[in-house]
Amino acid sequence: MRQVWIERAGPPDVLTVREVEEPAPAAGEVRIRVEAAGVNFGDIMGRLGTYPALPIPCVPGFEVGGRVEAVGQCVDEAWLGRNVLSMLPRGGYADAVCAAASAVVERPAEMSAQEGAAFPVNYLTAHLLVERMGALTPDETVLIHSAGGGVGTAAVQIARSIGAQIIGCASGHKHDFLKSVGVDHCIDYTEEDFETRVRDITGGRGVELILDPIGGQSFRKSCRVLAPTGRLGIYGMSAVGTGKARNWLGSLKAAWGTRLRFTPPGLMSQSVGVFGVNLGNLGIDPERLRSWLTRLLESYHQGALRPVIGGTFPLENAADAHRLIESRQNVGKVLLLP
Ligand SMILES: NC(=O)c1ccc[n+]([C@@H]2O[C@H](COP(=O)([O-])OP(=O)(O)OC[C@H]3O[C@@H](n4cnc5c(N)ncnc54)[C@H](OP(=O)(O)O)[C@@H]3O)[C@@H](O)[C@H]2O)c1
Repeated sequence: MRQVWIERAGPPDVLTVREVEEPAPAAGEVRIRVEAAGVNFGDIMGRLGTYPALPIPCVPGFEVGGRVEAVGQCVDEAWLGRNVLSMLPRGGYADAVCAAASAVVERPAEMSAQEGAAFPVNYLTAHLLVERMGALTPDETVLIHSAGGGVGTAAVQIARSIGAQIIGCASGHKHDFLKSVGVDHCIDYTEEDFETRVRDITGGRGVELILDPIGGQSFRKSCRVLAPTGRLGIYGMSAVGTGKARNWLGSLKAAWGTRLRFTPPGLMSQSVGVFGVNLGNLGIDPERLRSWLTRLLESYHQGALRPVIGGTFPLENAADAHRLIESRQNVGKVLLLP
């Protein structure tokens, strides 16, 4: 079977297909025949050598949709043949992958393998940001950066189901799509200053919730447009996740920009909050995570949540999938199809 490896840090061309033996599931694991693998921005940061969850060399890929074809010891054989989705520590860019049975969830009958691979990372992250930690309510306004991406489109759907007003930042060519799915105001952050536009849109009040995966200067500006009682959810550093090589200077600037703003006296005097989310390092009971995922799948079943697929590529063209995201062209989730 094939796996796509990050052999060394660098541009998309460093992704290499290797032929390897089919893995045998260990005790407590199942082997999934991968029909679709999610491509996440974290994979790109891993390829650039700036994401500790992907120590090079490694096979990236944090989620897959497929079918269970083998089970290890202590796993119920009833899993065999089931259509599933799963989050993974890594390894999803492959024809088959072994996953802990505790991380595997059966897909609703109407959910395709592609939708399954597009679901867990984006919707769990968006759920944590918007509902669990962001506590968004219908009378509030949320500013969603990267609103047209994988996590962004999931967050838009959840915010829309709550009934809040939505402001979305995205490259201009995504705005028609975003308006069609319920974003009330779009900002092209590549052309306009989002801080000024948010003030204009809200009559100077600011917004109650901001989802910011950009980093550095963006965190500082986001902080300045929080309304009283507002919450800023930070969950990424896209600003340092692109380019042909590691960007240590960018990482340093992003970290510095963040540090400057968030002091306890500053937070108290403004009555605002800042929180972070890292799905890959939550450190919570897998059963709890699973119960959140099951609830999100129930919302999928009811039609409130639908993954937006923004591009599919054969497994061996993983480099093109990375290029699409890095060039900011993707609307929704990008997938590899082994
Ligand atoms: N903490 C967590 O648990 C967690 C989980 C998942 C994802 N994330 C983070 O969330 C962010 C989005 O991830 P995703 O997988 O959903 O990706 P994505 O949003 O589907 O793709 C990236 C998009 O980000 C925007 N962008 C903004 N600045 C960029 C830059 N400097 N370089 C390239 N693109 C840039 C581009 O869209 P526009 O130009 O249209 O805005 C691009 O299309 C990433 O920072 C990722 O690391 C965090």
